[in-house]
Amino acid sequence: MFGKQKSKAWKCLKTLHKHYCKVEMRDLFAADRLRAEKYSLQLDNMLVDYSKNRVDDKIMQALFALARERGLAEKIKAMFKGEKINQTENRAVLHIALRKQDDAPIYVDGRDVMPQIKAVLEKIRDFSEAVRLGKFVGYTGKKLTNIVNIGIGGSDLGPFMAVEALKPYWAKDIKCYFISNIDGTACAEVLNRLDPETTLFIVASKTFTTIETLTNAKTCRHWLVDALGEHAVAKHFVALSTNKAEVEKFGIDAENMFEFWDFVGGRYSMWSAIGLIIAIAVGYKNFERMLEGAYAMDKHFAETDFEHNIPVILALIGIWYNDFYGVHRYAVIPYDQYLQYLPSYLQQLDMESNGKSVTLDNKFVDYATGPALFGGAGTNVQHSFFQLLHQGTEMVPTDFIVPAISHNEIGNHHQILLSNILAQGEALMHGKTEAEAALELEKAGKSKAEINRLKKYKTFSGNRPSNTIVFKKIDPYALGMLVAMYEHKVFVQGVIWNINSFDQFGVELGKQLALNILPEIEGTAFGVEHDSSTTNLINYIKKMRK
Ligand code: F6P
Repeated sequence: MFGKQKSKAWKCLKTLHKHYCKVEMRDLFAADRLRAEKYSLQLDNMLVDYSKNRVDDKIMQALFALARERGLAEKIKAMFKGEKINQTENRAVLHIALRKQDDAPIYVDGRDVMPQIKAVLEKIRDFSEAVRLGKFVGYTGKKLTNIVNIGIGGSDLGPFMAVEALKPYWAKDIKCYFISNIDGTACAEVLNRLDPETTLFIVASKTFTTIETLTNAKTCRHWLVDALGEHAVAKHFVALSTNKAEVEKFGIDAENMFEFWDFVGGRYSMWSAIGLIIAIAVGYKNFERMLEGAYAMDKHFAETDFEHNIPVILALIGIWYNDFYGVHRYAVIPYDQYLQYLPSYLQQLDMESNGKSVTLDNKFVDYATGPALFGGAGTNVQHSFFQLLHQGTEMVPTDFIVPAISHNEIGNHHQILLSNILAQGEALMHGKTEAEAALELEKAGKSKAEINRLKKYKTFSGNRPSNTIVFKKIDPYALGMLVAMYEHKVFVQGVIWNINSFDQFGVELGKQLALNILPEIEGTAFGVEHDSSTTNLINYIKKMRK
């Protein structure tokens, strides 16, 4: 049983917060010259500096105590052992098995899952190599150079983000496209650019029942059959799914299906068959490196004490702000153009996992759970929403991510980028006092009256937290580490909040209601009862479409 009133560690943190809400980070830095060293961790080439947070040893100890009280170590073990920790759906949660590099078995329902994972990885290797080498060709014998992933949510965001992140590793003659939105524009805009003879469609859907994906796949199938005939389908369509029956019903041969299993959550699936487009784009060896990077993070997470455990520490610091400062949001800002879709990917990972309000003991929570996440690529977002981060009334804890070396070291672009990311963290933490602002204005030759008029506007409160994550370079291994780090961070927070991070019932109501409304929009059902707003909107739209 967990509730904030009943938790000793929670109460202790509440008391500590009363004092710490007044603590200034710049004072913490001034008092301890070794603070950055003390609050930084390294794993391979990855450095995580969490020193610019409103924490010290006392807070960290209290947070670790909360993790112990919540039985985090046992929960981690349970996940890695294949226990059915997704209790509402009675499923194991084994994305870690997809990238496991050792030979130890993992049993689910008495069966070792590793051989089937290895078999599908081999199938991915063989197929991706055959496509890249032009051994698996289209119906008319031409090389398949346009690869289209049709999927949505976890069957889109992971591969989309990873393919973009690893663009420097793409085969020169292969182009990747993604169709996710049901909006016909998404299909039209991709198909308009393609030649059916050189196009391979990958229909990615765990359930193979998702209306967006199946509708888009049908449209693409029509487009292909119109051009090349029904017999061409087997050479231009493959499916990634857990649902063989639905795949066959759709008209894709089971031979052309890459399987995964219900112990792989949609938003945790880019390491599975869902990653096929990644392997085709960057080659299986690079795909494997990505798995190895994730495995390195898995080992670190499973084997390191909390005090040196990167995902655990990031998760606990997130809890500190979310539940004690009442800050229910955070930003992720990659300073790497290739990582521009990381925030969208993390939005699903975090918000679909931890946007929950019922505990594992079937009670409504009496504390805040998952925060809202937003972000975008630096430096672009410095020129959009960073104003609020620096001077707004809302504190937004921020993760900055940057490679020391760019894939495109052109002139001094990367030096400027690096100086910007470091300056942002420093500015958010340090701020600028009214006195400092006044002095600056004085030095710029402003009059007393001008100084008084402007100094408040030029003040930065500072004391705004951030983590800075530095890689040597964003290569497949680094990407694997980074994504696995966030997966485990989200898991730890779910454990602390005592919620199930692996179901997603919250997306169902909207889907149900859309199925009710569809016949009304199509004009085959009338007079269905809704609230007056929905009824008026349906009527207005129908009038406009006449
Ligand atoms: O949005 C709900 C959801 O079930 C996600 O969890 C999932 O990633 C997405 O839809 C797509 O589902 P599927 O892979 O089954 O098509």
